[in-house]
Amino acid sequence: MKKAFIIFSLIAIIIACNSNEKDTSTDSATTETAVEDPEAEKGLALVAKSDCFTCHKVAEVSVGPAYEAVAARYPDNDAVIDSLAGKIIDGGTGNWGTLPMTPHPDISQEDAKTMVKYILSLK
Ligand code: HEC
Repeated sequence: MKKAFIIFSLIAIIIACNSNEKDTSTDSATTETAVEDPEAEKGLALVAKSDCFTCHKVAEVSVGPAYEAVAARYPDNDAVIDSLAGKIIDGGTGNWGTLPMTPHPDISQEDAKTMVKYILSLK
């Protein structure tokens, strides 16, 4: 139920944003510019499907740091992708403040890496 609510909220937000646009022909173009890399697009889908957006926003601090801030802080390389993927699975604290991120033991290292690729694509 909670996941369904999150997905529903995201759809509502997307619809709200689109309805503000005068040019309705840009629907697919907008999505493409937002996430160009297919890996990143897959990562966004995984992030949206999991509980990430209950604690993270793209551009603003929420319970956790803004994904844009995470992207700005770390270089985009394999070592960083591996280590951040490990933190998504194991949880972590102390890098952005005192609040902990909950562990996600049911997410595979591969999926977690795809999520990190999406986050790092927000540079
Ligand atoms: C319960 C709230 C919560 C949830 C759910 C959550 N996070 Fe976090 N996240 C945090 C907090 C708090 C931090 C900062 C932790 C710290 O200071 O080390 C964080 C940090 C991060 C970081 C940066 C880690 C670092 O060491 O710099 C990444 C990447 C991240 N989260 C991704 C995700 C992804 C992907 C998901 C979904 C699978 C997720 N988070 C779900 C609260 C959350």
